[in-house]
Amino acid sequence: MSKVTAPAIKARKVRTGSDPLVMLTAYDAPSARMVDEAGADLILVGDSLAMVVLGYEDTLQVTVQDMAHHVAAVARAKPRPLIVGDLPWMSYHVSIEDTVRNAADLVRAGAQAVKLEGGRKRVPMVEAIVDAEVPVMGHVGLTPQSVHAMGGFKVQGRETSAALALVDDAKSLEAAGAFAIVLEGVPDEVAHMVTDAVSVPTIGIGAGPWCDGQVLVYHDVLGIEDRITPKFVRRYASVKDTSVRALSSFAADVRAGRFPAHDESYHLSAEQSEALSLYGSAPVAV
Ligand code: KIV
Repeated sequence: MSKVTAPAIKARKVRTGSDPLVMLTAYDAPSARMVDEAGADLILVGDSLAMVVLGYEDTLQVTVQDMAHHVAAVARAKPRPLIVGDLPWMSYHVSIEDTVRNAADLVRAGAQAVKLEGGRKRVPMVEAIVDAEVPVMGHVGLTPQSVHAMGGFKVQGRETSAALALVDDAKSLEAAGAFAIVLEGVPDEVAHMVTDAVSVPTIGIGAGPWCDGQVLVYHDVLGIEDRITPKFVRRYASVKDTSVRALSSFAADVRAGRFPAHDESYHLSAEQSEALSLYGSAPVAV
């Protein structure tokens, strides 16, 4: 199957008969290979990296260098899905020149598109990146990089004016050249309105079923991260439990002398073992 491209994603609107898009996050080569084998359309190297991999409390702590490091690891797996690199906080807020250079850093690391958070006020940045020939994915609604401005991780667009502002944000991103838009943490009716209002696909997370696709974080889907389970997450496995069980079995086997077994060790031939036993305590091979 051929590599997924940004123009191909842009054409995937459910109302014109396309299947919903599947996007999953991945942060390294093995997770990229698994997401690829699972048949996803897009891999997002999200700044959720900060929380699910690097142990920070929010996404504000990662830098362009951190993101590029993980984008490169994903790209080395040469996955079929489109690789979208997340522009971290402060990488597209200072100047247009900085923004384009930071997007270029992610592309040089292996991203085939970049994502940034915010609506109308990000239009100049989106236009500049698109002008540099890099596909841009928008992200509106609950934008985690605005956690302090929003007063926490709160569902957005509940009031009429906020819902209409979201529609306006999405339309302005589309007009600026975004090829797809993530809708995060908004009521499903509002996500429906936004999806109807734009001709590029919307990809929802905590935004109900009316979007043109869905995205979840790898660690949430697999149950690797089990400390917080947001309402919108569906766990398809309990990898943390399975892993802790396996690691505990290893520890118990080591402590009980059950690991390594004879077949898990390298051995000398009987003659060499015999010869060596003359010099010390090497046991005679059996
Ligand atoms: O960083 C991320 O993983 C994201 C998704 C949750 C959309 O932005």
